[in-house]
Amino acid sequence: MHLTKEEEQILNGEHGETLQKAIEILVALGDIYDADGLIPIKSAQIAGVSYKTIGDAGLEWISDLEGEVKVPAILNPAGMDLENWNEMGISKDFARKQQEIIDAYRKLGVNTKCTCTPYYLEGFDTEYGDHLAWSESSAVSYANSVIGARTNREGGPSALSAALIGKTANYGYHLDENRIPDVSITVDCELTGSDYGALGYQTGMMVGNRVPLFHLKNTPSSDELKALGASMAATGAVALYHVDGVTPETQNIRFEQPSENITIEADQIQEVYNTNSDIQNSDEIIAFGCPHCSGDELEYIAQLLDNKQVDRDVWICTSKEVADKNPQIVDRIEKSGAMVVCDTCMIVSPASENYKMMMVNSGKALNYVPGMCKIPSKFGSIKDCIREAGANNRNNKN
Ligand code: F3S
Repeated sequence: MHLTKEEEQILNGEHGETLQKAIEILVALGDIYDADGLIPIKSAQIAGVSYKTIGDAGLEWISDLEGEVKVPAILNPAGMDLENWNEMGISKDFARKQQEIIDAYRKLGVNTKCTCTPYYLEGFDTEYGDHLAWSESSAVSYANSVIGARTNREGGPSALSAALIGKTANYGYHLDENRIPDVSITVDCELTGSDYGALGYQTGMMVGNRVPLFHLKNTPSSDELKALGASMAATGAVALYHVDGVTPETQNIRFEQPSENITIEADQIQEVYNTNSDIQNSDEIIAFGCPHCSGDELEYIAQLLDNKQVDRDVWICTSKEVADKNPQIVDRIEKSGAMVVCDTCMIVSPASENYKMMMVNSGKALNYVPGMCKIPSKFGSIKDCIREAGANNRNNKN
């Protein structure tokens, strides 16, 4: 792998121990994947933030680092709402450790707004062709597929290393040849809303880490594409997909049709909705926002909850910045008894373990809840989930 003179100096420790460690990680990855060198990145998104997932060892690793990131860098969701952790039922000990992790990242100049949807945030505008070092799998999928930017699925340490150096190794999805679709997916039915999460759930299991090219009957919205990519990255390891005539690379590049075609039918989409649908448990939480909700999604949920009162715990996960930009929507949602939860999510927060069952509108969460929260999960549209939350007209209740 070719290194510039300055990169050689960093590798030799002439710019301090932290940068030396950081470039060692990037060079090791570059060597493994046969990169020709390091390329500049526009931003980094760093996973490995929740104390639930990184524990004391992770906290110690981050605390030992010194220096400052060279490009805008932001964190993945933490284990709690950084302001309202008490309302989530988080213990004081967990909150203290979580705050130490956040402070350690802040010391390195990392933006401590914790989200898996950095592309909604000011300072993280991402454009076609930008090179990035992002870690969270749904953010990676969205950046590559919906925006047409270029990032590998970085681990937390490699994303932080890339942020500190301002570069990443040039391999994988940074290169044209790895962005060509290698399996075609024809969907034989009309889709709407959470159907896209169900489609991603099924497709991910079939295609693993390949690059699918979808042929759809509908034109999905950006929120629907977000749900599709998140699920595929969870049940498979899809970091890039294309939708014929919709996602930007299919409009700029003439791809050949892959030789393999898989057809997905309506009953396969329905199967996802059937998961655990017969299990009822009153100690159930309803959780939205995997990936974190956009302003449009918050508005839609608010409309469904207007003048209603829920009779079980409902979380709507989003970033603090999106919540702060939409105070009236948040207010309408919270009047129903549902809670807008920022900086965290139902998967990386330990608070969701306090329930016996979770209903979600996300294929990614459906897949992760049993392993990460140790409870069964079921799936529905946003409307199904609101119905499950027992949302009753407020006047009828009184
Ligand atoms: Fe985001 Fe948490 Fe889902 S990080 S994609 S909301 S698992």
